[in-house]
Amino acid sequence: MLRGATQADDRQADQQTQSGSGGGFLARALPFGIAFAVGFLLGRRSDGGALSKLKSLASSEGEAGESNEAGDETAADSATEQPSSMGSVTGEEEREAETETEAEPIEEIDDEVAAVTSPTKRGMPMFGLGTYKMDDDACVESVRTAIEMGYRHIDTAEGYDNEDAVGDAIAESDVDREDLFVATKISPENLDYDHVLMNAEESLDRLGLDYVDMLYVHWPTGEYEATDTLDAFAELRREGAIRKIGVSNFTVELLEEAVEVAEEPIFANQVEMHPLLQQTELQQFCAQDEVDVELVAYSPIARGDVDDVDELREIAEKHDATPAQVGLAWLREKGVTAIPKASSRDHLRENWLSLAVELDDEDVERIDAIEDEERIVDPASAPWNA
Ligand SMILES: NC(=O)c1ccc[n+]([C@@H]2O[C@H](COP(=O)([O-])OP(=O)(O)OC[C@H]3O[C@@H](n4cnc5c(N)ncnc54)[C@H](OP(=O)(O)O)[C@@H]3O)[C@@H](O)[C@H]2O)c1
Repeated sequence: MLRGATQADDRQADQQTQSGSGGGFLARALPFGIAFAVGFLLGRRSDGGALSKLKSLASSEGEAGESNEAGDETAADSATEQPSSMGSVTGEEEREAETETEAEPIEEIDDEVAAVTSPTKRGMPMFGLGTYKMDDDACVESVRTAIEMGYRHIDTAEGYDNEDAVGDAIAESDVDREDLFVATKISPENLDYDHVLMNAEESLDRLGLDYVDMLYVHWPTGEYEATDTLDAFAELRREGAIRKIGVSNFTVELLEEAVEVAEEPIFANQVEMHPLLQQTELQQFCAQDEVDVELVAYSPIARGDVDDVDELREIAEKHDATPAQVGLAWLREKGVTAIPKASSRDHLRENWLSLAVELDDEDVERIDAIEDEERIVDPASAPWNA
């Protein structure tokens, strides 16, 4: 039986967002910002706890710690969003090469963009920016532009090699830290207790932040062991270095185990989700009261493939929108948070304006009924392939 960890602190400042189909979720949502008020009364984490102890462990481990973090193998794995433990690559490189484009600086925020805000759910903005395959100056520019447009949720990972750039963009922005939701992830090879603590600290240093809003287990592979790994995440949460615990790429079975053993609540599971991969089983499981885990959709526009789905094209025409916007609006109707990656200004804007697209019941039912399936991120060693 599931333990059902308490999440009252997450709930107190938030709206409830169990969205039904076509229910105009956006209209019911609170503007982003209000939900953070309570959580941020907490101070910066103490320096005397496990993090400090692990800092000395890190320096005594020296090169071992460094090579564990940034070896070639890790870089190669993260370049394909795959668990580091696997050797096989699934032919995604071509697709991913296409994602490297440069952002142009935004000149001005137009009225349409300014009129839109992201709803929040239990303290998490339901719309965010993915940053996989963004690096250096282009990353700084895209994140800065996104924040200027109104994006408040930024998703990165130690494996993306861009936490510095994300941190620079945050530092350059005019938005207060407490109004941003920053999430990062620990790579599979660093998921033993000690390295979780050390690597979280290193991520904070690179980001230039005192805390992250959510820290994810990137993949339940490599050194992941439910109790050991999640105990370290719980310790980080108690110390104030992270606000929420996330997992990623967890199946129902792995999530059930995690919820059961975790000393602190599991807030979210980040998985691939879009109209061509609807994750119905996970949605149903996460919605149970004793589970109560948010879904965060990665690759939410299937890296552009939603453009080719007839149903989405037709619904888009009806709403004077684009298929990508319709796919993102459908996720919102499901109560799922979406983190599309976009580096070009046009894509950033188009995706942001999906927040203004209101689907009706018929649209949602039509998308629910799509039978074609496509999984973009599908490494051989992923848990669903085991
Ligand atoms: N936890 C995990 O294991 C995991 C796995 C994969 C992804 N993620 C996270 O999820 C984020 C998003 O996923 P993703 O990057 O895989 O895929 P995605 O967001 O579905 O697609 C990104 C690609 O689509 C393009 N694009 C953006 N907006 C578009 C639009 N409106 N119309 C057409 N094309 C558009 C982007 O181009 P431009 O860049 O040129 O604008 C980019 O090439 C990642 O960046 C990462 O933060 C996590």
